[in-house]
Amino acid sequence: MIRIKTPEEIEGMRATCRLAAQTLVMIEEHVKSGVTTQELNDICHDYIISHGATPSPLNYRGFPKSICTSVNQQICHGIPGERVIRKGDIINIDITTYLNGFHGDTSKTFHVEEATPKGEKVRRVALDCMNAGIDVALPGAPLRTIGATIEKLAKKNRCTVVHEYCGHGIGREFHEEPAILHYEDKRCNITIQPGMIFTIEPMINLGKAAIKHMADNWTVVTKDHSLSAQFEHTILITEEGNEVLTDLSGRKTPLPER
Ligand code: MF3
Ligand code: CO
Ligand code: CO
Repeated sequence: MIRIKTPEEIEGMRATCRLAAQTLVMIEEHVKSGVTTQELNDICHDYIISHGATPSPLNYRGFPKSICTSVNQQICHGIPGERVIRKGDIINIDITTYLNGFHGDTSKTFHVEEATPKGEKVRRVALDCMNAGIDVALPGAPLRTIGATIEKLAKKNRCTVVHEYCGHGIGREFHEEPAILHYEDKRCNITIQPGMIFTIEPMINLGKAAIKHMADNWTVVTKDHSLSAQFEHTILITEEGNEVLTDLSGRKTPLPER
């Protein structure tokens, strides 16, 4: 069941999404060579707690930490630990906050100091794919347009889309319906409607799309060890278009004029 949000729920979502976005802005200056992913986890954890929220990942289905940190060939769900990040690494930091009964979810891939050409390429394509998906997430459009648009752009850039993980409705639950695929599924007949809130979070690989899990049973990596990047926003569908709830500048996409 897709939960259409009430005006009160939308206000709750605005607040939690703002906090998630602020956490991501706050952590950026700490993403430097020499820091451990555990230290990044602890800084985010304390920040979220000090703002009256809790980190949604902590104990979610047994996840042991407060954020996900996915480095280089790691696609998603990296567990913070003693790993030290180094100049030239790329690292996705995925923040989900639970504030007053609502979850807000956003992530970003950072370069650690200098960008390598491959790191910059995959990061750029992942960002462009998320943005292209947001641009077509409009009321009245078929939901599958989002995935079709993302897949097409990834292919054009000779990158691949991870199929095993997708965006999701979000609200009182961390993961709600519908699943937001980042590739085209012609069988999907859902129409995008005002009051829907969901994430768009394509995982883009520089090499092949195939994944595998690390021994910790959480961290997902590229099977061919190629680099992978991801960006994620939580968006609200409105009568007029959409609003990116995890964008602090209040990004809105209007419906095209007719
Ligand atoms: N934040 C991730 C997402 O975008 C989910 C993380 S689940 C966890 O949906 F258990 F790994 F934290
Ligand atoms: Co998400
Ligand atoms: Co997330």
